[in-house]
Amino acid sequence: MRPYPKTEKYDKSWIEQNWMGPNPLWLLEDLCDHMDLHPGMKVLDMGCGKGITSVFLAKEYDVTVFANDLWISATDNLRRFEDAGVADKVFPIHAEAHQLPYAEGFFDVAISIDSYYYYGAGETYFPDVFSKLVKPGGQFGIVVPGLRKEFEKGYPDTLEKLWIPELFAFHSARWWRTLWEKTGLCEITSCYDIDDPKAIWLPWADWSLENFDKEWGEGGDFDTKILEADTDNDIALIALAARKK
Ligand SMILES: C[S@@+](CC[C@H](N)C(=O)[O-])C[C@H]1O[C@@H](n2cnc3c(N)ncnc32)[C@H](O)[C@@H]1O
Repeated sequence: MRPYPKTEKYDKSWIEQNWMGPNPLWLLEDLCDHMDLHPGMKVLDMGCGKGITSVFLAKEYDVTVFANDLWISATDNLRRFEDAGVADKVFPIHAEAHQLPYAEGFFDVAISIDSYYYYGAGETYFPDVFSKLVKPGGQFGIVVPGLRKEFEKGYPDTLEKLWIPELFAFHSARWWRTLWEKTGLCEITSCYDIDDPKAIWLPWADWSLENFDKEWGEGGDFDTKILEADTDNDIALIALAARKK
């Protein structure tokens, strides 16, 4: 696996207390290597969960972050931002992805780590909502779990027994690229499968086996089952970055 020098500065147990999927700081660090972030920019962190990506953006890039999430309350996230010493630069917002409180063109950058597929895999979300959040010339960046390629029935045979409805939002890099590109609203600047997806995913799957049920209930073995079943290595982690025209 590639080195993640920025993520290495952060306490592993702090990451594990607050992650909600495969190490979001690794995913964000990989994505940010393909984006252009400068001090003072206004960044939307959509689906930030417990906000560790928002803390990372503020500390590593000196940007102002609107940390937007649905399942995690703004009050819980504010406490974490205060503890991390970034409450003057990271603002917690509780809002659903289709009911956002932001002015059009407010952000320089809109980022989403391991979240966009929950609400953005439909044809209209990018042109109707996400694209409008950013000013002309601004940037978009997402990382989503997906598949190395498209399958006629939607999933590989190896994963048939585990395929649940929400996984139909898992797609290939090319599929995600087309979803945004065909709108004509942006220019794709990067679109790729992140290297070693299983090595990235495994620590989260191992943690989930031990800890998931304490916070989230049943299902902590799901990631392990799906990684083990994926004998053809079709599971991917996809990064997509674009600039608004
Ligand atoms: C798998 S978690 C990832 C959280 C965080 N980015 C991380 O990697 O730890 C997905 C996040 O997407 C958010 N999300 C899902 N559906 C959403 C929606 N309709 N509107 C806003 N956020 C949503 C959830 O609140 C959740 O925190």
